[in-house]
Amino acid sequence: MNTMNTAVVRAARSLTPTVTQYWLTGAQGAARLPTAVPGQHVTLRIGPRLKTLTVVAVSDDGYELAVRNRHRGGRRDVLSPRLHVGAPVAVSSPGGHFTAEHAAPFTHFLAGGVGINPILAVLTAGRLRGWRLVYVDRGEGEFPFLDRIEDLAREQGGTVEVVDTGTGGRPDWTEVVARIPEGSTVGVCGPTGMVADVRNAVARESGKRLLVTDEPAAPIVGGLPETVEVECAKCGITFRAAQHQPLLDELKRNGVAVSSSCRQGICGTCEIEVRTGRIDHRDEVLTDQEKAESGYMIACVSKAISDRLVLNV
Ligand code: FES
Repeated sequence: MNTMNTAVVRAARSLTPTVTQYWLTGAQGAARLPTAVPGQHVTLRIGPRLKTLTVVAVSDDGYELAVRNRHRGGRRDVLSPRLHVGAPVAVSSPGGHFTAEHAAPFTHFLAGGVGINPILAVLTAGRLRGWRLVYVDRGEGEFPFLDRIEDLAREQGGTVEVVDTGTGGRPDWTEVVARIPEGSTVGVCGPTGMVADVRNAVARESGKRLLVTDEPAAPIVGGLPETVEVECAKCGITFRAAQHQPLLDELKRNGVAVSSSCRQGICGTCEIEVRTGRIDHRDEVLTDQEKAESGYMIACVSKAISDRLVLNV
């Protein structure tokens, strides 16, 4: 990780029942936070924990961020209890390229949950000639920043399609991508499964460009069986993964799209559903019960105990 800067949580407010908005500023007596371009990401270190988040907007003295602090099944984000007004936070310098500069003049955006954050940042820059957005989340009262997105759509002539998966089910991303005209740029940010589906759909169609937020994972050392057979049920790819590499890297190296962020087993971005196989769980995302059931794994840190895994990617 790059140099950390000293910051403090200046303000916080609930955006939805599960998403909180935060403003970070340089701590008193410390240097100002480095300049960020909205849409870039920063990694926060609070105590021993790390979390990577999108800079939604910048002000003279800091960053606006938004965090989903409750996940599937009501699981609470490990960092949210420590993110309160006045809390000291170490913040990395910003990085990443999901910014207005890298979007196409007309971009088709696909957002899942707080995946709206970098897309809002790009739209707020006001540099696109046109855009369409499919915005997916679950539950009435969720859809963080929807009011700002709808204001921008009115001002800029954008189009927003809102899909509540709680009532309408999950979109078929292959169909959604197929409807996007050839030659278009598809900007996607959301949960791992959604981004994987979109990435696979774009890869199958020539002439469409993908703009994503995830980064390559860093190698870690360790493992049980030296290699493991990995079958990816959704995309039909099977390969042998070396256990001294993160499974996340092995998946990507073999052409399987998986989103990632913290690469530390903290944020849950790389969570994958496991159909078959036993897992040595090394993350701080899943509950003890979820780990015992091994229905999911966190691909950046966890390992296979069995010789074969079947994953729902
Ligand atoms: S990338 Fe954050 S838990 Fe794996």
